[in-house]
Amino acid sequence: MKIFVDTANIKEIKEVYEMGVISGVTTNPSIISKEGKVFEDAVKEITEIVGSDCLIFAEVISLEADGMVEEAKKLAAIHPNMIIKIPLCKEGLKAVSILKKTTNVKTACTLVFSAAQALLASRAGASYVAPFMGRLDDIGAEGAELISDIAEIFAIHDIQTEIVVASTRSPLHVIQAAKAGANIATVPYKVIMQMVEHPLTTNGLAKFMKDWEKVPKK
Ligand code: G3P
Repeated sequence: MKIFVDTANIKEIKEVYEMGVISGVTTNPSIISKEGKVFEDAVKEITEIVGSDCLIFAEVISLEADGMVEEAKKLAAIHPNMIIKIPLCKEGLKAVSILKKTTNVKTACTLVFSAAQALLASRAGASYVAPFMGRLDDIGAEGAELISDIAEIFAIHDIQTEIVVASTRSPLHVIQAAKAGANIATVPYKVIMQMVEHPLTTNGLAKFMKDWEKVPKK
């Protein structure tokens, strides 16, 4: 399972990109709004940091299919690795279908909360579906169960649409997503940092450093 970072913060993206652990960056209107930048400028800045090996996900704002298609084409023109996030709704599915049939623009259906929605998104032609794990857990549902249901359905029917698990709130969510068969988990910077840490690693390193002081030096 690949790891993407779910942020538009340039400092955070640079740090995790330099660690070599991410294969993509995902944004959405809420994430972009935190940076206080013009949308297109924020997206361009991200493309300047990550290499050609990273995908960049940006979301359309229109609520009608024609508007979504126009926005998608403009965003896709910013960088060859742009993937266009389109919300799961009737107009969204229509936009995904138009883009699939008439362009090379790749889409990700976002705000997916059921396996039925994921199946529809794949049939409309989405390259990715983004189920929101944490928000399901918030309402007492099993986020991990949804991921394994989607993975099972896609495997049975040889569906090539990839599962990008979003709304991951903890290292446990990331591991649950990996075990459930997700292709990608998009993870906030803070959670990637939590994944790095383990108290035994911290203590072990401190002990190595302390013991090294006792080693005679030239
Ligand atoms: O990728 C979607 C994500 O940004 C939503 O996360 O924590 O607001 O549910 P959250």
